[in-house]
Amino acid sequence: MTQVLSANRNASCAAAPPQDEAGVAAPGQERGPGASRLATQEQDRSAIRADGHRPRVLFVSHTGTMSGAELVLRDAVRPWPGATAYLFEDGNLAEALRDAGLTIRLARRGTGLSGLRRDASVLRALPVLGQLAGLALDIARAARGSDIVYANSQKAFLLAALPARLVGRPVIWHLHDILDSAHFGRIQRIVQARLANLCAATIIVPSRAAAEAFVAAGGRPTRVTIVPNGLDLELDPKSPAALRAELGLPAGPLVGVFSRLAPWKGQDVVIDALAEVPNLRCIVVGSALFGEDAYAAELRARAAARGLSDRVLFLGQRSDVPRLMQAVDAVVHPSVDPEPFGRTLVEAMLAGVPVIATDAGASSEILDGGAAGTLVPPRRPDRLAVALAELLADPDAFAARTHHARDRALTLYGAAGMQAALAKLIHETAARA
Ligand code: UDP
Ligand code: GLC
Repeated sequence: MTQVLSANRNASCAAAPPQDEAGVAAPGQERGPGASRLATQEQDRSAIRADGHRPRVLFVSHTGTMSGAELVLRDAVRPWPGATAYLFEDGNLAEALRDAGLTIRLARRGTGLSGLRRDASVLRALPVLGQLAGLALDIARAARGSDIVYANSQKAFLLAALPARLVGRPVIWHLHDILDSAHFGRIQRIVQARLANLCAATIIVPSRAAAEAFVAAGGRPTRVTIVPNGLDLELDPKSPAALRAELGLPAGPLVGVFSRLAPWKGQDVVIDALAEVPNLRCIVVGSALFGEDAYAAELRARAAARGLSDRVLFLGQRSDVPRLMQAVDAVVHPSVDPEPFGRTLVEAMLAGVPVIATDAGASSEILDGGAAGTLVPPRRPDRLAVALAELLADPDAFAARTHHARDRALTLYGAAGMQAALAKLIHETAARA
């Protein structure tokens, strides 16, 4: 397994970065005027093969809410204007994809899937089966008008895989999850891996951790390619102090957590750690995007119970994450279960602020085994408190690491590299069909 995966890693490296192989300048190294226009031309070209053929892609997503996977899709479709997106619900994603020039096809009726928990039993899923059958037929019709189907989530793949195969279209599954027991029930893992083996021509994952979990769940290693998520971020030239004043943030030691509110994202651990670091404040950015309201309330209660209400600042969902990151002394990424990737990590690296992350899932890959950020064990507020105290005591000692982190993010995790790698896989998969 390891050998095949590492062979695939190499293959995916050949497909993705380094950007010079794809003839695309690394974003961020191209900060001059015209850089973004240049990048756009390159992105457009990446969807067209040398012989001019451009497969008709049907992108499928189950949710209209923008979390990391949907932000990746928003960026991934940029070289594909004119493609179609089949969405199970309307919302911000539909809007973003329309802006990118895609035709949006909305499922006629809701699927009831958003309310279905990832670890729900098959029995609990039964009531929505009738609805799902109608949806499958609709997807099959949409797939017939395309050359290839690209499912951007686990639920999208579960619903699109069979209909697409029935009408003879190859399927790519962009798997943004870690298929392990922390995130999915046993039956779900087995069903997903078997369905992938049966129906998916290509499985794309953002990290080695996600690839390994897929294989451990029974997925075929030869079908998996790692394409790290890529994104671009413009730095605000203002100083952290000026940004804090503008953003209404307090002076003094301040860190931030920038994940949606969900138990596995571990904001509770940061609150517990804060109790052990006097005078440190923390902004908690993000909201309960997928119904985790009880956890959101629990976080506030936890801060109050520890006498930290004035030191834990809940800012809710924000659209200015990069500026907020630039304004804090450090970004904490405290996920308690393995993180499939974590765009937030890359954003923090690009923002040029020190990162402290839990060593679970992809964090260590992204942070170069700790050379580009501090790694602490998950669910250990005491260890997090020590790391925070060390950082605040001597921030200069972290400058070289933070510098390395930004270089690493610019080199490995740019949007153009990801777009080129994904386009290559789409072409290869369509050509093999
Ligand atoms: N994010 C945001 N506003 C917020 C909180 C988060 O725009 O208030 C963004 C964040 O900048 C990142 C994404 O949401 O780009 C989260 O992606 P990530 O891969 O870190 O985690 P996910 O939520 O997908 O598990
Ligand atoms: C998922 C994962 C996150 C990843 C994102 C994009 O939402 O939780 O770790 O960065 O997808 O791949």
